[in-house]
Amino acid sequence: MTLTGTWSYPTQIRFGAGRVAELAGACAEAGITRPLLVTDRVLATLEVTERALGLLDEAGFGRALFAEVDPNPNEANLEAGVAAYRDGGHDGVIAFGGGSGLDLGKAVAFMAGQTRPVWDFEDVGDWWTRANADAIAPVIAVPTTAGTGSEVGRASVITNAATHEKKIIFHPRMLPKVVIADPELTVGMPPAITAGTGMDAFAHCLEAYCSPHFHPMSAGIALEGMRLVAENLPRAYRDGSDLGARAQMLAAGGMGAVAFQKGLGAIHALSHPLGAVYGLHHGTLNAVVMPAVLRLNRPAVEDRLARAADYLRIGGGFEGFFDFVMRLRADLGIPATLRDMGVADDRLDALTEMAMRDPSCGGNPVALTRDNVRQLFVEASG
Ligand SMILES: [Fe+2]
Repeated sequence: MTLTGTWSYPTQIRFGAGRVAELAGACAEAGITRPLLVTDRVLATLEVTERALGLLDEAGFGRALFAEVDPNPNEANLEAGVAAYRDGGHDGVIAFGGGSGLDLGKAVAFMAGQTRPVWDFEDVGDWWTRANADAIAPVIAVPTTAGTGSEVGRASVITNAATHEKKIIFHPRMLPKVVIADPELTVGMPPAITAGTGMDAFAHCLEAYCSPHFHPMSAGIALEGMRLVAENLPRAYRDGSDLGARAQMLAAGGMGAVAFQKGLGAIHALSHPLGAVYGLHHGTLNAVVMPAVLRLNRPAVEDRLARAADYLRIGGGFEGFFDFVMRLRADLGIPATLRDMGVADDRLDALTEMAMRDPSCGGNPVALTRDNVRQLFVEASG
């Protein structure tokens, strides 16, 4: 292991119940006078979005909304969002929602001033340096789910509608200028979404913790993030109005995304193509493939996960940690297998090829090959 690394930690996070009331003040602080609020179609119809638009309107910032955002946002959504941004003469974006609203909002702010196609900025080597950094618009991020952590991330996942591949678009200046993390906004999430998004946060922490890269700060955050999920996700699932559990889960979601600067792994390498091809929920997929990936990685992470089991007060070494994950999934009503999610096993070769091209492969503690990745899909299928 080389003890070198380039580390980047996040941004101003205004955390706490009721702090969405500071939305207009956050715009002023970020230098935004004509914000475009970007969210998904479903959220656009809900009261939380109306409240945010009302707060902006009252403060003289207008109430511009763009909501043509699919659950897995694609380049057509992005193009339409950029057009709305330019046509409206906006000077910043409020990225509002779960993963799709946050990711598309960040991508609109990024692409609003670029001249090259979005795929030129995929997270490959130094491709991000192709962007005109001065033309990137400022973003205020307001998460309404607790899991993606995209509010503190420097990337957006955009699905290529032609190839069904999820691409990570990266630039350091995509990091939101201000995050408003208000757990009251997450209270309305139904139990299945609470479970799926919460398991996404857990997967981020777990994969970051297990990745072989040197980043002890992220490893520490990942460990505490897993503890917060273990203690609070079952509570938030059982009682969505438990604001304390909602707050801890919102923190854990952000922590997972900070932690995965250390790397992701096979859980995400599998769930990205599954999500892109079948349109299934990202975090739920992570939870479904998690046991198979833990079994594959066991030789490389046995000691590390035994330490995590002690910290989470589970005990029992690797086995204890594994059994805990199985119990957590069952308690949250997560489907046991991909088959239970409606995935037929007739496309495993294509899914394997897509997984092998996923950048998350690089952070898996056991080297991924076509053979072991295909076997993971077989095991997770049930
Ligand atoms: Fe994820």
